[in-house]
Amino acid sequence: MEIKIVSDVRNTECDVIVAGLYEGEQTAHEIANTYAIEKDGFKGKFGQTYLLQTYGAIPAAKILVIGLGKRDEFNENKMREISAKAVKKCQQIKAKTLAYDFETSFDYGWSATIGAMIGNYAFDKYKSEKADRVDKIIMSNVSEDSIKSGKAFGDAMTFARDLANEPAEFATPEKLAEYAKSFDGIETEVSDYEKIKNMGMGAFLAVAQGSPKPPKFIHMKHYCENPKKKIAIIGKGICFDSGGLDIKPPSSMLTMKDDMSGAACVLAVMRALKEFNPQVEVHGIIAACENMPSGTSYKPGDILTAKNGKTIEVDNTDAEGRLTLADALCFASELGVDEVIDIATLTGACMVALGTVAAGIMGNDDDMIARLIETGDKNGETMWKLPMFPEYKDSLKSDIADMKNTGSRNGGASIAGVFLKEFVKDVKWAHIDIAGVAYLDKPQKELIKGATGAGVRTLLNYILQA
Ligand code: BES
Ligand code: MN
Ligand code: ZN
Repeated sequence: MEIKIVSDVRNTECDVIVAGLYEGEQTAHEIANTYAIEKDGFKGKFGQTYLLQTYGAIPAAKILVIGLGKRDEFNENKMREISAKAVKKCQQIKAKTLAYDFETSFDYGWSATIGAMIGNYAFDKYKSEKADRVDKIIMSNVSEDSIKSGKAFGDAMTFARDLANEPAEFATPEKLAEYAKSFDGIETEVSDYEKIKNMGMGAFLAVAQGSPKPPKFIHMKHYCENPKKKIAIIGKGICFDSGGLDIKPPSSMLTMKDDMSGAACVLAVMRALKEFNPQVEVHGIIAACENMPSGTSYKPGDILTAKNGKTIEVDNTDAEGRLTLADALCFASELGVDEVIDIATLTGACMVALGTVAAGIMGNDDDMIARLIETGDKNGETMWKLPMFPEYKDSLKSDIADMKNTGSRNGGASIAGVFLKEFVKDVKWAHIDIAGVAYLDKPQKELIKGATGAGVRTLLNYILQA
């Protein structure tokens, strides 16, 4: 999508002028005020729309009046939602070029651009008939920089959503590694079976062993001189989660191509860094594999040794994500970074607890968690802190190994967090469970059904403000 900045949006050629209307106020367009507000009593409540033909009164054929709600409550989150909504409305009437006529107290270029790109998204690669899209948006009173940054965020989200929407036969461990190696300015090391084995990643390899698709351990690096901070981000990269020998029922397996949404987020963030070149050292880590049932699968009762030497009795092969993350967390703990963040579609229990409205977050540093939550709030990604009471560890007790990989179903999201903690050493750490928010089965706010690009906005912003 092209974004163009002009000084006067009111007299430009376009298909639709999108005119913002604060509740109880007037628009900048006489014709809209006369027809929408005076004649039809349109109020401008947040998200309400009113479409008006102009019949030659102005160069644009139509005006879409869109309610912004109360002026003093309007902010960047609302701008993003409004922009997505406007784009979706205009797709329906097959408009291609829009002009945004908004009067805001902030530079709305960034949020309007991300919103427009989120709203314009469709995964139609495999459809003969393509979705209707808006091609161009004209804006005024916005800076070039805000548009550039908005585009980079929008691109990153599109990349992550595409990758998680792709079938597992496309988004394989090998494909994720190929992408990781293709990013400008990112140094990437991909380890294959032998190297992974030599690194001592017995938990990761056990999960991978049931699939003919070879595992890939992916380590991406963004280096810079005198970094202000060093951060490692880890994404769960289960390219397909069948459950393994503890196989999932069909309805639960249906969307399990998305079990690499954390990896898609990490790839998208690393890919976007070139646009910003932050003075932060960033490591992107993915232990990519499939969890499949076969004659070579790992089995309930197996005892695995993770990279830090701790032993794990396999209680359920469907709790595979925490096994792959265990080795990735050990690896990240040895990098000498200040902070480690993992992002994972980890537990159905997190989805039961928080629904599709919020991701769960936990970790070992309250301040870091608070900063992540705040960053998410400002960017339309809600996260909710879940507890890590030491008692949760009791249910992971094993008679024959250091721990089991699953415990009680109750408190499942926290139990998974407590399990992961065993593999974090001497570093600040936060764990984000995106099981509920990574993939929607119906539209929600500016997002359509399918992959959401969860975590991209939060992690990229978090890194940029480090
Ligand atoms: N990938 C799933 C978690 C998941 C469930 C993500 C639903 C998205 C939507 C994970 O690997 C899993 O299977 N977890 C099990 C753990 C259980 C066996 C302790 C679960 O949540 O049922
Ligand atoms: Mn699973
Ligand atoms: Zn999984």
